[in-house]
Amino acid sequence: MGDKLDDFIDGLQNQIFQETRTAYGDLAFERWQNLLYMGAMDKPDGYARITGSCGDTMKIFLKFAKDHVQKASFQTDGCGTSAVCGSFAAEMALDKTPDDLVEVTGEKILEILGGFPKEDEHCAFLAAETLQEALNDYMMKLRADNQRRTE
Ligand code: FES
Repeated sequence: MGDKLDDFIDGLQNQIFQETRTAYGDLAFERWQNLLYMGAMDKPDGYARITGSCGDTMKIFLKFAKDHVQKASFQTDGCGTSAVCGSFAAEMALDKTPDDLVEVTGEKILEILGGFPKEDEHCAFLAAETLQEALNDYMMKLRADNQRRTE
């Protein structure tokens, strides 16, 4: 009985995995199984937290060194696709200068992932918007520091 149930559950899981892979693509599926850059960061230089219209929240943390992103990570309470998009947003931020970071958009995330079903595209835009807000946070702190130094 136990074996039959295990086989049934395994079969069901394989079917779900197969359908997910077909709908979201290999890259997104593999990242979903191994979410890189996930977790909070202590004392980030840039941080943002945005709740999208779907009710899910995305957080992005950035650490800069010599005007380049040295570390990046994300956290979300949202769906699997938002986690995948947060993970890619963090990865795409790495080693970038503030000027280059501006180019990490929702469209770029979707392009790298090979597109998402229409109803999930907003997850990529939430991740990109949060990343841009974290960059904004960093730039504001930088400006305030520079101002303090010249006073
Ligand atoms: Fe809200 Fe994915 S459904 S971010």
